[in-house]
Amino acid sequence: MRLIIKLINFLEDLTLLTLRIFPAEAAKNITLRLLKLIYSLNLIGLFASSNIEKSKINIKNLSLKNRIGIAGGLDKNAEYFHIFSSLGFGFVEVGTVTLEPQTGNPKPRIFRFTKDKTLVNSLGFNNVGSVQVLKNIKKYKPKFDGVLGISIGKSKNTKTKNAWQDYLHLMDYFYLEADYLAINISSPNTENLRELSSQENLEFLLEKISQKKVQLIDMYKKNTPIFVKLSPDETDENLKNLIEVSEKNSIDGFICCNTTTDHIYPIAGGMSGAMLSKKAGNMQKKVAEFKQEKSILIASGGVMNASDVKERLINSADLVQLYTGYIYQGNSLLKKALQISSS
Ligand SMILES: Cc1cc2nc3c(=O)[nH]c(=O)nc-3n(C[C@H](O)[C@H](O)[C@H](O)COP(=O)(O)O)c2cc1C
Repeated sequence: MRLIIKLINFLEDLTLLTLRIFPAEAAKNITLRLLKLIYSLNLIGLFASSNIEKSKINIKNLSLKNRIGIAGGLDKNAEYFHIFSSLGFGFVEVGTVTLEPQTGNPKPRIFRFTKDKTLVNSLGFNNVGSVQVLKNIKKYKPKFDGVLGISIGKSKNTKTKNAWQDYLHLMDYFYLEADYLAINISSPNTENLRELSSQENLEFLLEKISQKKVQLIDMYKKNTPIFVKLSPDETDENLKNLIEVSEKNSIDGFICCNTTTDHIYPIAGGMSGAMLSKKAGNMQKKVAEFKQEKSILIASGGVMNASDVKERLINSADLVQLYTGYIYQGNSLLKKALQISSS
């Protein structure tokens, strides 16, 4: 038993050391590969957090073992979601996926501000594209015990006026495999993507998406919830409109929120982590006020400790996603989040 505890401590120390000493993007990739190795050696159980919920949580058509998930962008190519569920996460949002493979913006493109427990990234939807992501999903889903969200976004080269075609093709690809779809119109790192959240563009896009959904429900006899991921940089007025237009077009809920471009660091890109926490928490309160009761609210942004989880749940979040907090703290944050969310 002492040997096992020593091994766990050693591997956890190794992971945190990797995250500190390597450039941020390489560190993330090495850590994910390390996790894969631990999983393939059948040792992942040693790191897993136990599920404390007494019964399943039912939200829309989703049945979850707990309320804590991984936010979009950590498992961009759907290669690790089964491992995150083994660690104890109730849901994982893979992607953001684009139709074709993309390399993303030039490196370096993830910057760590360790003292502030913050990241700034300008990745730009680097991913292996819809065909390979679908293959990965089919490969790992049998080993997955959770709810699978798939985040979809427009390609870098797709013009704003044609973006709806990307989203509709991606719905064709992923509607059946997804437990929910996340429409990403809020990443700051794909030029013009945020133009899609203007009243006129959004109305057009969501009308197309809701018409497509009617066809897909009919074809597959399956109602996959669709959520819109919001930017924290919207004005209150825009946010109100955005929510109204979404609900008019049968959107099932909102993910609040993506990274912000409003930050103090001398680098272009979206900021996440502790320095986003207050802004994301305040925005979530507004979304809760503006949305209809039946719309789902998924909290994302600066969830760094148990009290952040508690605050988001008290302020109407149905589910809570981790990203930067998990990068900095690893499984100890997941454990605390699971405890507080089930109490
Ligand atoms: C390196 C990095 C990559 C991200 N990529 C995506 C992405 O592809 N799609 C997406 O919807 N959000 C993406 N995000 C945003 C996160 O999902 C999350 O909304 C944001 O980081 C705020 O949460 P946090 O403060 O807990 O990290 C990314 C964030 C980071 C740090």
